[in-house]
Amino acid sequence: MGVSFDKIDGSLWLNFDIQPSATPTPDKERDAKLENLGFGRVFTDHMAIVRFDQAHGWHGARIEARSNFALDPAHAVLHYAQEIFEGLKAYKRDDGGVNLFRPDANARRFRDSADRMAMAQLPEQVFIEAIEQLVKIDRNWIPGGEGSLYLRPFMIASEVFLGVKPSAEYIFSVIASPVGSYFKGGPAPVSIWVSETYTRAAVGGTGGVKCGGNYAASLRAQAEAIERGCDQVVFLDALERRYVEELGGMNVFFVFDDGSLSTPPLGTILPGITRDSIITLARDAGRVVREEPYTIDQWRADAASGKLKEAFACGTAAVISPIGKVCSNHGDFTINGGQAGEVAMGLRKQLVDIQYGRTPDKHGWIKKVI
Ligand code: PLP
Ligand code: COI
Repeated sequence: MGVSFDKIDGSLWLNFDIQPSATPTPDKERDAKLENLGFGRVFTDHMAIVRFDQAHGWHGARIEARSNFALDPAHAVLHYAQEIFEGLKAYKRDDGGVNLFRPDANARRFRDSADRMAMAQLPEQVFIEAIEQLVKIDRNWIPGGEGSLYLRPFMIASEVFLGVKPSAEYIFSVIASPVGSYFKGGPAPVSIWVSETYTRAAVGGTGGVKCGGNYAASLRAQAEAIERGCDQVVFLDALERRYVEELGGMNVFFVFDDGSLSTPPLGTILPGITRDSIITLARDAGRVVREEPYTIDQWRADAASGKLKEAFACGTAAVISPIGKVCSNHGDFTINGGQAGEVAMGLRKQLVDIQYGRTPDKHGWIKKVI
């Protein structure tokens, strides 16, 4: 199968068998698709794939034409949702090269997710190599300007068995989707709905990892947010129903009148890579950043008193998105007059400039693929 195995630093390394598509999208058609991008509907020509079974370990690493999976109706993932994923982006630099932002952090989190979901753990080098090879072969799909190539590594349980136990077989794959700026015509503040009916994660659950089931369980709450005229749902803790946790697909930060920031502590929330980067950038700038619990009642009171100056959501897909309005069964309130705040926008620019290679990368976050 053209696959070879080597040992690098004591861990398994797979060489990918590169099989370019026999029918790549014609240049004109591709460029037309790149003209009008939203999020997650346009896909590139190729995908990465690596398989795991107990006899062979990780094997069959390939880059090949994007195509359907052959699914057996008894594949474990279809019944017990043993599935994890990641999200990261490739950015085109002004010199034509391509940057990845902290792919090592995504690789580590993917292993942590696999561990929590009792799945086979993919060596981090293989995770990164799959992404690099896919980005190289589909480099013409990376949009210019503020666009980027969203990369979606994921793993499914593929054993054909209905017993409730960890699958003995897995498929790891990476697909890629060119995406435009998350903000239409600039970073418009979002409105969020506080879910008092549904929670996202409890202590001991799966809130701290990126498994598909977390998102399935969030959809009813997100639908309620939309019904109430809001863009996104924000979850409270499952025990006391008081502490702000995170949005359906983003972490959250608060900015106070003394210039300090706070963000909910890790545990039941996803340890966002954007969250971690913002903490570092804000501390670099001399700001105090606290990782501490913050209640919805305090949020309302601080917005009313003026102690709270800004709030924003952050994540790979959304980058940094100011929160202008918070709605709940106990009434609505606005933050910063519903406008984007300068701390959020300043951090966003700093982060994006690093991602696109416009500013020195003093933390070693950038991996140049091309
Ligand atoms: N929280 C949730 C539930 C998410 O889905 C995401 C997006 O991946 C984040 C937070 C932000 O994580 P990151 O900054 O690593 O993209
Ligand atoms: C991301 O920001 O990468 C996410 O995964 C959020 C959402 C698209 C699930």
